[in-house]
Amino acid sequence: MLQGNICELSENDSLNHYRFPSIIPGWLDELVFMRILVLGADGYLGWPTSIYLSAKGHQVGVNDNFARRTYDHELGQESLVPISTLKRRVDTWRKVSGEDLETYIGDLTDADFTHSMIAKFNPDAIVHFAEQRAAPYSMIDRAHCVYTQVNNVVGTLNILYAIAEINPDIHLVKLGTMGEYGTPNIDIEEGFIEIEHKGRKDVLPFPKQPGSFYHLSKVHDSHNIAFATKIWGLRSTDLNQGVVYGHTTEQTDMHPELATRFDYDAVFGTVLNRFIVQAVIGHPLTVYGKGGQTRGMLDIRDTLACIGLALDNPADKGEYRVFNQFTEQFTVKEIAELIARTFPSDVKIDHLDDPRVELEEHYYNAAHTKLLDLGLQPHLLSDTLIESLFGVVQKYQHLVDLDAINPSVSWRATQSPVRNDQKGMVVS
Ligand SMILES: NC(=O)c1ccc[n+]([C@@H]2O[C@H](COP(=O)([O-])OP(=O)(O)OC[C@H]3O[C@@H](n4cnc5c(N)ncnc54)[C@H](O)[C@@H]3O)[C@@H](O)[C@H]2O)c1
Repeated sequence: MLQGNICELSENDSLNHYRFPSIIPGWLDELVFMRILVLGADGYLGWPTSIYLSAKGHQVGVNDNFARRTYDHELGQESLVPISTLKRRVDTWRKVSGEDLETYIGDLTDADFTHSMIAKFNPDAIVHFAEQRAAPYSMIDRAHCVYTQVNNVVGTLNILYAIAEINPDIHLVKLGTMGEYGTPNIDIEEGFIEIEHKGRKDVLPFPKQPGSFYHLSKVHDSHNIAFATKIWGLRSTDLNQGVVYGHTTEQTDMHPELATRFDYDAVFGTVLNRFIVQAVIGHPLTVYGKGGQTRGMLDIRDTLACIGLALDNPADKGEYRVFNQFTEQFTVKEIAELIARTFPSDVKIDHLDDPRVELEEHYYNAAHTKLLDLGLQPHLLSDTLIESLFGVVQKYQHLVDLDAINPSVSWRATQSPVRNDQKGMVVS
């Protein structure tokens, strides 16, 4: 971080930025260092994002309630790549980089905790990852559905109230999902669409047709954020993110204790990561139904870059904006075929009955230009990346739990058995 007499607090800046004095010419004038609070910082994306932002010179605070680790215990599964405790990660980052991550352990559904954390850390920006993020988990039964919606919607409402009461200038960068839109038979726009109806025109929120109770929680969040931004004059960015793949980033590569999680199971594993594990252990790649389901996807390094770009270019006061955060779109079948082609040995592709209620073949064309306009330089899916993921998985293949791979949650049933056969929630 900046120290001594080369930094000063800009008096005219409504955000708490530290700027180099104007006597230093050129690009240094443009450097802005912020206080950024990352919520859900122990998760797959939250941890690499925290140390990425810290490496960029920001003062980063981290929050988590370890709900994700609790779901692992509940379902009897774990990240394929062993992960350190948050405390050890923070200690290791301090040793490696010299930077501190102020740590707040607590649950965002606890309004008093959320308010006092935000008041104490006094952020310029909040990056909010902290939600239950697996569609299958939300579809296990009533209890998991209710837990997901309460956790996600109430947590986000508590953050919005705290921002409005403590400092409405705090820029909220919230992780939404491309799944909020569903798969309409028209092009998907970035958040809004101009509609002409009975001779009148308006720009309206793009219709949402989410495909699970989890995705519905994200839609509820989006509406709550847009409304709160309008009534209280907040600044908010809703990042409708595609499916993330990949495991390592420049910072997580600096020490094994900085590794992020790698999920491959049928509940939390994202599709490309799961197929890589299946290829390595000689298990057929499990494509659901015809495999024509098309999804926007991106490399984990681009998640970090997109968040950096959103933070560096904050929303205006009273502005609720939406960026579609993905770089390429693929059908599930295309991903399976790509992995089968790239893996050095034979790989079989199995088509299972689709446990979800969704279109197995459909039109899909989603806009994603706003982050590119801000300067995103995508890492497109390449053989090299896939080969490096084979390497990650080969190292830990002895830890793969085959039972965790087959889909166990059916959208058509109101109750699906979970591993460990535990009924009801263990999350308190
Ligand atoms: N991983 C993807 O492919 C993907 C795609 C689109 C959107 N997203 C969104 O990005 C965000 C992060 O995803 P991820 O893959 O890192 O998920 P993750 O489950 O690995 O991380 C989420 C973290 O939030 C924490 N958390 C959950 N509820 C909390 C609460 N009430 N209080 C405090 N902490 C809480 C969890 O313990 C976990 O560490 C999620 O909001 C998700 O919906 C992820």
